[in-house]
Amino acid sequence: MSNITAIKGFEDRFSPESDQFTYIERVARDVFFRYGYTELRTPVLEHTELFCRGIGTETDVVQKEMYTFPDRKGRSLTMRPEATAGVMRACIEHGRCAPDAVTKVFTCGPMFRYERPQKGRLRQFHQLNCECLGPVEPAADAEMLIMVMRFLTAIGLTDLSLQINSLGCPSCRPAYRERLHDWLHSLPQEALCEDCRRRMETNPLRVLDCKVPGCKELTRDAPRILDANCPDCRAHFETVLRLLDKAGVPYVINHRLVRGLDYYVRTTFEVVSDKIGAQGTVAGGGRYDGLVAQLGGPQTPGLGFACGMERLALLLPERETARPDFYIAVLDEAAREAGFLLAQALRDAGFTGEMGFAARSMKSSMRQAGKSGARHALLLGSDEFAAGTVTVKNMDSGEQVALPMDKVVAALQAQ
Ligand code: HAM
Repeated sequence: MSNITAIKGFEDRFSPESDQFTYIERVARDVFFRYGYTELRTPVLEHTELFCRGIGTETDVVQKEMYTFPDRKGRSLTMRPEATAGVMRACIEHGRCAPDAVTKVFTCGPMFRYERPQKGRLRQFHQLNCECLGPVEPAADAEMLIMVMRFLTAIGLTDLSLQINSLGCPSCRPAYRERLHDWLHSLPQEALCEDCRRRMETNPLRVLDCKVPGCKELTRDAPRILDANCPDCRAHFETVLRLLDKAGVPYVINHRLVRGLDYYVRTTFEVVSDKIGAQGTVAGGGRYDGLVAQLGGPQTPGLGFACGMERLALLLPERETARPDFYIAVLDEAAREAGFLLAQALRDAGFTGEMGFAARSMKSSMRQAGKSGARHALLLGSDEFAAGTVTVKNMDSGEQVALPMDKVVAALQAQ
């Protein structure tokens, strides 16, 4: 065996696990298309500056988690840690941020973050990601939240909690930030973790979603950002909630939900499961009205979300692999070519199945046929070959009949 193994936090995924991904992507395409999204494929490698400017230099993602390296000419490149910044770059570069137009795109593929691997947290993971550029209206936020929940229900997930908050906007957030900063300073500093003591100065909102129990307890009564929302932000949020109520989509307001990326304003949300341990957030997103302009594009509001596919897969039951229709067992060298051609004819007629490439004994062939799970074993021995027939054995009932070679396709079709 080779002693070269996969990199820590990077996974191989054989069937049936890979079938779950195929299934999730198929349902996602179906649901997202219904809401007007079309697919955009962007590169996995981008200029590092895109993520520094897009995600924020003070975020954990940019500070500690990016796979960044110089290319052969010394330019700093980064494996994308998320899709949003790249999607914005593509939309700006290709003129898809037209004023008064709505652009809806979804992407799906691998992302890379140098995090400590654990259940549901990998260094290469996969996201389904939707971005909607253009609308300022709260109906766009509600539509997106409804779509996320419809999609998660459509793949078969239940018992998820949609958590929602509003982070305000550039006109009301600075005052809240200041207030929170001062409030945090009034706490016994030594009781806060080192990260929180640093974040307090650089990005005090992030202290609210620290997972350290001591910090959580200490900040339980922190001022709430919703109370500091300006009238416009408040009205926006109230409309989003009203539309969710009317559409019958349950949610929980989570005052500590601040998200880990810097571009969010107003509505932010996460969908959480309590069934997969500490990494239970299966989707997250929100509004980012300033992001396109921050990256050099025209002032264009927008919102989006991403789902972690590995986490969705952890919540889904294993998928049953489809049963093949046939297994062709060649029992005699002379029949090999006839078996090979029969396999092609059956596949051309739409059946799935395999042929054992080597001629084997009856016992070994039947073992292979059983292992394949096929509904029918088609036996080609010297007698059959001489007579131009095939023995068709129903693997469930054990019944078998000899049929002329050119009648096998029709016989399987008749079943
Ligand atoms: P995020 O919250 O960083 O948001 O990631 C979204 C989802 O990706 C998470 O809820 C989780 O399911 C999954 N995820 C994140 N990191 C990992 C990991 N290391 N291993 C496995 N799964 C992971 C974003 O990425 C934003 N770009 C979402 C967005 C799109 N906001 C607006 N548009």
